[in-house]
Amino acid sequence: MTSHYKEVYAHWRRDPDSFWREAAREIDWIKPPQQIFDPKAGVYGRWFPDATCNTCYNAIDRHVKAGRGDQRAVVYDSPVTNTIREYTYTQLQREVETLAAVIRDLGVQKGDRVIVYMPMIPEALFAMLACARIGAIHSVVFGGFAAKELATRIEDAKPKLIMAASCGIEPGRVVAYKPLLDQAIDLSASKPAHVLMLQRPMGEATMQAPRDVDWAQAVEAAAKAGKKADCVELAATDPLYILYTSGTTGIPKGVVRDNGGHMVALKWTMSNLYGIKPGEAFWAASDVGWVVGHSYIVYAPLLHGGTTIVYEGKPIGTPDAGAFWRVISQHKIAALFTAPTALRAIKKEDSRAEHLKRYDISCMRTLFLAGERADPDTVHWAENILNKPVVDHWWQTETGWAIVGNPVGLGLLPVKHGSPTVPMPGYDVQIVDEGAKPVPTGQMGSIVVKLPLPPGCLPTLWQNDKRMQESYLDDFPGYYKTADAGFVDEDGYLYIMGRTDDIINVAGHRLSTGGMEEVLASHPDVAECAVIGIKDALKGEQPCGFVVLKAGVTKPHAQIEKEIVALVREKIGPVAAFKIAVCVDRLPKTRSGKILRATMKKIADHDPWTMPATIDDPAILDEIAGALKEHGV
Ligand code: COA
Ligand code: AMP
Repeated sequence: MTSHYKEVYAHWRRDPDSFWREAAREIDWIKPPQQIFDPKAGVYGRWFPDATCNTCYNAIDRHVKAGRGDQRAVVYDSPVTNTIREYTYTQLQREVETLAAVIRDLGVQKGDRVIVYMPMIPEALFAMLACARIGAIHSVVFGGFAAKELATRIEDAKPKLIMAASCGIEPGRVVAYKPLLDQAIDLSASKPAHVLMLQRPMGEATMQAPRDVDWAQAVEAAAKAGKKADCVELAATDPLYILYTSGTTGIPKGVVRDNGGHMVALKWTMSNLYGIKPGEAFWAASDVGWVVGHSYIVYAPLLHGGTTIVYEGKPIGTPDAGAFWRVISQHKIAALFTAPTALRAIKKEDSRAEHLKRYDISCMRTLFLAGERADPDTVHWAENILNKPVVDHWWQTETGWAIVGNPVGLGLLPVKHGSPTVPMPGYDVQIVDEGAKPVPTGQMGSIVVKLPLPPGCLPTLWQNDKRMQESYLDDFPGYYKTADAGFVDEDGYLYIMGRTDDIINVAGHRLSTGGMEEVLASHPDVAECAVIGIKDALKGEQPCGFVVLKAGVTKPHAQIEKEIVALVREKIGPVAAFKIAVCVDRLPKTRSGKILRATMKKIADHDPWTMPATIDDPAILDEIAGALKEHGV
């Protein structure tokens, strides 16, 4: 099939209003949009400002009405609990309308915030959709975050209700969520009125009456009483959710997603970017705690009338490196979306793909990758073993969908390893220098997107227009700063080379080294510190922290290093994967006192490096190299 990408992108360029008006026809509005974009509203404009709608209606009810009631909507596949359960659209509707009535009866109303702290179980989706149904704003917090991170989010979102499960299951251990949740609520100045707690038999929670309410009992009682909540009418610009993501400090950014633009954009991507037909199964092997999970486990496949997979397991070890191939063949998945790190994990265990021989995965047409740079070696390996297109695409929590990708539905463009391909309609992507001037083809620069951002992207940060402006819009006036650096080649293909801020990417998880430094600095023996991301063959990057101890500290270095590793796990969570702490006498700095993190990273990565001209004392770099060697880096 010849690709229609050029015509489609040109249509958007020529007439964005008509492009998005056409895309908006795929959505069932309560009041259809007359105006497509209002440049005067909000921080940089708002999409579909006069329309009203309900996202839950579009994700569930309209499919039941249209005759898809008996089709699989959600498949829960959990190798860690040995469970497979399917929900049709009719069953999903029943679950969600009843749960929505439960949370409404707990006092949750349109505009109220609800924090969802749950593992990969279908009830997490029910929770999100129940909120969407009654116009409450959900904020899902990933289960691998610790109490303090959860507390920060509670403090900022001020939820009326927290919906949680008693535990998550990681290979080899049960993670009790309730003690973390209780601690987080204690730490936060804002207190929820209620916690709706789903008791899982692998680790039941101790309940605190009257705050804590048993989920299953409440749902059963509501169902018996015939209670159901209808979809409420919301402005397209009303928030659907807040998703916190790492910023450059320990305070995460509350990315806001609206209802209308989000639906229009996601629906467009299912056919045009992913090449999926309604009724097909789409599997995003991520977690509902991340943006990939929000967009492509929950909303997009359901808005499209497809089947989504909720997988509670890992690519390896649950039980083996054939897990992904088993799920694909068993549930007839048309496309898999995962992070390159998952493939690297499979490749490490089963480089010859012996497990693949046990499964028929002919149902799968395409493998999509995102979340971190797709290294050409891994892409090449996947292409060889699968004999199918492996398509990288680049996006961020802030955008909610791909900025740059290879639109399979419009006809696959030639794949170039190392490039996520070309800008999607809606995104005018440019590479600029520090003065916001475009750089020549092939030259590295900051990647920016000309405003306005398309539908689906963040209109602002939660109750913080100022931070939105300062974080993303001030540095390059008229553009959105992606904080990624890269270049465009002569064919217009984009290459993403890394972040321009202190965000690192560990196993496809976005983490702030600034946030980790705040934790290291809070250790009583630490005078100063620096955290950098260093290369890791499996996870892409891993954090590495350097600490200078206060004068007079006599404790053994090894003990302090152990305490620091434990502190990051306690304050940020296991997801930080912080395992390397190194005590050093001094940190390398410029004469003006700036820590030379980039040079330290090159030394740790064993990359070539040159002595920075502004360095205060060159001998310190040898000390750093020596300390890293002692720690086996
Ligand atoms: N709840 C509690 N703890 C969690 C968790 C959760 N939801 N998710 C991860 N953790 C823990 C892990 O158990 C691990 O703990 P440990 O230090 O005790 O071993 C720690 O957080 C780090 O997890 P992770 O970085 O995921 O490493 P891993 O060694 O467990 O697994 C991979 C490595 C590559 C298999 C795994 O990272 C993976 O599947 N990645 C896919 C990436 C992905 O889905 N990204 C989402 C964006 S698309
Ligand atoms: P998150 O907001 O967690 O999705 O992380 C977004 C960041 O992950 C981006 O700014 C990039 O740095 C990185 N990233 C995501 N997808 C890709 C990709 N396909 N190629 C390179 N980097 C990526």
